[in-house]
Amino acid sequence: MSGYVEQLWDQLPENERQAMNILNKIQTEYGFIPRNLLFELAERTGIPESQLHGLVSFFKAYRTTPAGKHRIRICYGTACYARGASLIYDRFAEELKLESGDTSADGLVTVEQVYCVGACSQAPVIIQDEEIKNRIQSYQVPLLLNDLRKKS
Ligand code: FES
Repeated sequence: MSGYVEQLWDQLPENERQAMNILNKIQTEYGFIPRNLLFELAERTGIPESQLHGLVSFFKAYRTTPAGKHRIRICYGTACYARGASLIYDRFAEELKLESGDTSADGLVTVEQVYCVGACSQAPVIIQDEEIKNRIQSYQVPLLLNDLRKKS
């Protein structure tokens, strides 16, 4: 992983050597922005590491820790929230013992909150990896997790 930014910098045409572009490539390659690569990017661009960290913290598309093998996104848009999105989130958090952070200790699942995914009439909605699941109720959460464990 070390030297990745330098290698990327050399491969990119000059007009694509921008911090955001490189952060996007790091996120795509590793699934998160490792601290050492943020440092490398700061060194290479001359942008203070604190500013880069601010960028990474601001945009939800960037992660600072590795994501779990499976990704659960719970819609917290108005329709889903009104129909129990927070109960679903709480059940995932309880089942996965998410005390700090969004990823289970075994690295199986990352649980995130997102806003309206455009399926309001089917609320509450979650997205399990790339599959939208409609009208989910909190009692279904253990079953969903069991299915994920079996798949892994
Ligand atoms: S509010 Fe959840 S899909 Fe629109």
